[in-house]
Amino acid sequence: MNFILINEVREGMILAKDVKIYDYTPNKIDLLKEGSKLTSSNIERLKELGSVGLYIYNKDEFNKTPARILDDELKIEAITELEKLFSDLDKNEGKLESSALRGINEISTKIVDSILVNKEYMVNILDLKMYDEYTYHHSLSVSVLSTAIGLSLGLNDKALFDLSLCALLHDIGKTKIARDLITKPDKLTEEEYKIIKSHPLRGGKCVAKNELINERIYNGIISHHEKYDGTGYPFGAKGKEIPLFGRIIAVADVYDALTSKRPYREPNKASETIEYIMAANGSFFDPAVVNAFLKKIAPYPINDYVRLSNGKIGIVTRLFPENPLRPELKIIDKKDIYYNLYEDPNLYNIVIVESL
Ligand SMILES: [Fe+2]
Repeated sequence: MNFILINEVREGMILAKDVKIYDYTPNKIDLLKEGSKLTSSNIERLKELGSVGLYIYNKDEFNKTPARILDDELKIEAITELEKLFSDLDKNEGKLESSALRGINEISTKIVDSILVNKEYMVNILDLKMYDEYTYHHSLSVSVLSTAIGLSLGLNDKALFDLSLCALLHDIGKTKIARDLITKPDKLTEEEYKIIKSHPLRGGKCVAKNELINERIYNGIISHHEKYDGTGYPFGAKGKEIPLFGRIIAVADVYDALTSKRPYREPNKASETIEYIMAANGSFFDPAVVNAFLKKIAPYPINDYVRLSNGKIGIVTRLFPENPLRPELKIIDKKDIYYNLYEDPNLYNIVIVESL
């Protein structure tokens, strides 16, 4: 699929992603489903609403603009490799074989390449959620997000590669815990929680002594549930005592977990989850990592509808990596009004209240 600028979208193209269309009367939002053929009136309406562009299923003659951080092929490859690795571990009494790791290594290289090619791209985590198997897609999302945070922190290519691999493997210790317990929807007993909390060290044991795993990858795996204020596990390490990879993965892990649909709850909105992470800045999370995360995550992706504190509704038309919480919007009314929440000082008192 490609992201096609709205002026180049033509009648008959097939939508590759759902898109919302605002209807003035009776003031409601309609959904144009993925797979729908676009009509000229749809396109006109979207132009009028200020849409920048749409995800369209491929045809070679269409203009190509990279808009997604990972292509579908790489996602499928990554999920397949993770699946293979996790099931090999089961057979192998928990020891990670170098041959099993080779495929995952390859994936890490591709993730880092993709992030380096699209340096300015802001991660819209929804782009990554297409598989049902939670652990695999969670590992992949955490890896992409961690690598993006690492880039924002100025890590070099080798460190980004290690970080990406570390994040792909961060929950590998869960393969050593009964599946029923991992997916249990009810509240855990104290004993059960203790078992769950053993997964970082179990993960460390799985990868230990493997020639492809260096110390910082190992340290990142065992420390991804530590908290900046010392209330995490397994060691209750504090502040910079927690290895950098652990501090980065902690943020990516919580962000992805909260924005994912689980059997027992609906996903949280990106914007709410970001607020949660900001609120835990300095307590659960390293402020420097949160800062880097905020530069890389799109809380209000392009084409999203939001409600403002002055009651107006707008569609997101442009993002500013310096402050993704204040995008440019086209206001939904009959006039051609744009709000640039980031650059226009007259609008500094207006905030986004919710995404719709
Ligand atoms: Fe974990």
